[in-house]
Amino acid sequence: MFPRLDVVAACLAASLSVASAQTFRRLGTCPTLGCVIPPDQQDFLPGQEFDIRFEVHAPKNGSEAFNNGVPDEAFTATISKNGGRARSIADFFKQKEPSLEKWTFSWYEDLFAQDAKTPSVVNVASKAYRRVALYEPGTYTVTLKYYSGKTTTAEWTVRPLATRKKAKNVIFFIGDGMTTNMITAARLLAHKTINGKYQTLLSLDDFPVLGHQMTHSVDTFITDSANSASALYTGHKSTVNALGVYADSSPDQFDDPKVETIVELLARIWGSAWGAVSTAFIADATPTALTGHSRARGQYGVLVDQALNGVRNYSWTKTYGPDAYFGGGAEQFIAGSGSYQGKDYYAEFANKGYSVSLNKTSLLAAPNNKKALGIFCRSNLPVWIDRHIFTDNLEINNDPSGANKSAKDLPGLKEMTLKAIDVLHNRGSKEGFFLMSEAASIDKQMHALDYDRALGDLLELDDTVRTTIEKLKSLRILDDTLIIVSADHGHGFDVFGSSDTKYFNAQTDERAKRKAIGVYEESGLSQYTEPKPGVSYGTGANFPLNWDPRYVIAAGLGANPDHREAYGVGSTPRTPASGRNGEYYVNDKDRPNGFVVNGTLPPSAGQGVHSLTDVPVYARGPCQETFGGTYSNIDVFYKIANCLGLAQGRNVTEGLRKRRN
Ligand SMILES: *[C@@H]1O[C@H](CO)[C@@H](O)[C@H](O)[C@H]1NC(C)=O
Ligand SMILES: *[C@@H]1O[C@H](CO)[C@@H](O)[C@H](O)[C@H]1NC(C)=O
Ligand SMILES: *[C@@H]1O[C@H](CO)[C@@H](O)[C@H](O)[C@H]1NC(C)=O
Ligand SMILES: *[C@@H]1O[C@H](CO)[C@@H](O)[C@H](O)[C@H]1NC(C)=O
Ligand SMILES: *[C@@H]1O[C@H](CO)[C@@H](O)[C@H](O)[C@H]1NC(C)=O
Ligand SMILES: *[C@@H]1O[C@H](CO)[C@@H](O)[C@H](O)[C@H]1NC(C)=O
Ligand SMILES: [Zn+2]
Repeated sequence: MFPRLDVVAACLAASLSVASAQTFRRLGTCPTLGCVIPPDQQDFLPGQEFDIRFEVHAPKNGSEAFNNGVPDEAFTATISKNGGRARSIADFFKQKEPSLEKWTFSWYEDLFAQDAKTPSVVNVASKAYRRVALYEPGTYTVTLKYYSGKTTTAEWTVRPLATRKKAKNVIFFIGDGMTTNMITAARLLAHKTINGKYQTLLSLDDFPVLGHQMTHSVDTFITDSANSASALYTGHKSTVNALGVYADSSPDQFDDPKVETIVELLARIWGSAWGAVSTAFIADATPTALTGHSRARGQYGVLVDQALNGVRNYSWTKTYGPDAYFGGGAEQFIAGSGSYQGKDYYAEFANKGYSVSLNKTSLLAAPNNKKALGIFCRSNLPVWIDRHIFTDNLEINNDPSGANKSAKDLPGLKEMTLKAIDVLHNRGSKEGFFLMSEAASIDKQMHALDYDRALGDLLELDDTVRTTIEKLKSLRILDDTLIIVSADHGHGFDVFGSSDTKYFNAQTDERAKRKAIGVYEESGLSQYTEPKPGVSYGTGANFPLNWDPRYVIAAGLGANPDHREAYGVGSTPRTPASGRNGEYYVNDKDRPNGFVVNGTLPPSAGQGVHSLTDVPVYARGPCQETFGGTYSNIDVFYKIANCLGLAQGRNVTEGLRKRRN
């Protein structure tokens, strides 16, 4: 059905000035001057706690200038269920009327305004209602009335979901930035074909159910890892850089309206154990989105504090520290460096009963009945290829104690994940556990256009999934455990042929080098699965036998900075572009024998960027059948929550009392 034309015309006229603001928005979720946050079209889990914020904007200047920049302080807001009687927010949620907040912010309406340095200034009046919940499924209409006669409405849907648990445990693997194309390429590198038939397969290939999730954030169609992780963990989409909150326009990066996450729900309702494992620094977005509530993912020190102690202000005072927390990122733990208030976070965790491991040997020896922290280096963990093939790259100053030496006794994703399972299984006991395990450097190496290092870490993820299934079987909990393997977003990447490195390197002319690329019938077969004469990496059946054959994959993506391309694995990690005066140009030191590929990104980008693609969701175990088909990233949360019986028809607080300490 088509909308009536006169209605369309009226809507267009009303939103004309707003619709022109695209690159920058005054506030992404708020096209009018009255903001309801959570905004229109949001879904909720029954009993999930969240904050509500209303904002009334008075642009002082710019194309939307209104009311001389004086915001309406007498705005009112109501909520009604299924079209019933509208009640004031305070009355409905049995809260005291909060006090009025006021602030000013500015934004650029477009790139011309940014070039001219003429921001539009907006004065705001606002109220926030903290920590409320909707228990009954249905449709709720929230109406904000302001400037005598203007209204903004938001429809919220509380989904009818299960209160009974169907899975005891959930293990959620996230290949950060991982797409189907990358999985296909990784299979080609590690598994041999004969006449087009694979002789062995990835462990992902054995999963019974495959779905697709759409990754848009709440206010942009390209997401980052913060808001996509929040969507997966809370059922609420957010804004780029935001974790566990809807972004508001206030200057405080911690007062944005929060939403309760899967681990906060699970600990509160069932008293289950939970853990996070990542090959990134542990303060990075994908692990901290489990517990973090801020619109600024870069507040690393605070985010580690929130993981341990919960949010301590804005009435969001729950403390559900992880039972297992393993990754890199010692900067946020060593006293004085990037840690919150300069404190020693190894000591902060130890004081709360954690074992603290700074290397693999000590991790494997840590007791399974105690909460466990493991931080194995500064920054991200070195990638699988550098830990196994190009080990010279481990000679860097990254020891987790802060000493000037290299971290050498490093666990990989597999060792961290298997140890986390031991700890969580032990501590979760009959209430089970939730584990998030992230292969972070698929994304990080795709950003650097270092495809081989990305695919090495993807194969490490696949190997980890395979051994996890074996481990669960040996613990006799495989049938009780829902395993999901998915991603948070993609990067444009595919393989389009092969490159003859011998011919490539023999050419001096950059254009002639491209003749080395074989497409279609000249693409040939994977040489990565043929043993390298005289060399054994000893890395097992699920990895290539030769990482640098003569004929390598020719691969690439469409969203890149200026760089040189040579194909094939580099013996050192890549830095494709180098910066001068805030713009990026070809880094001639990177792949110096390659040919120049000019960028397709803004000159301010020094790395590749995320892309729009849907990403795969592999599922096995209880509730697996609910993961087929195509759906939004928030549905991953609702499917898991449904399987864990996290919906609650009343305020439940006993889970926490049942288990903690
Ligand atoms: C709005 O006013 C501020 C000063 O308060 C000024 O800096 C800015 O350039 C003005 N913006 C526009 C779009 O006129
Ligand atoms: C649930 O109950 C606890 C304890 O009585 C209280 O602190 C909390 O605010 C309540 N939550 C909601 C959303 O009402
Ligand atoms: C709230 O807590 C965060 C740390 O979690 C802190 O940085 C922020 O300043 C606090 N805000 C207020 C208003 O106390
Ligand atoms: C690992 O950590 C333990 C405990 O801190 C320490 O005693 C041991 O020397 C470390 N081992 C290596 C190889 O660094
Ligand atoms: C770390 O030690 C190496 C030698 O082992 C030295 O070259 C380097 O300058 C030191 N770095 C710092 C930051 O002290
Ligand atoms: C890349 O762009 C620069 C201008 O920015 C141009 O001089 C050069 O010829 C281009 N190179 C290729 C290979 O397209
Ligand atoms: Zn990324």
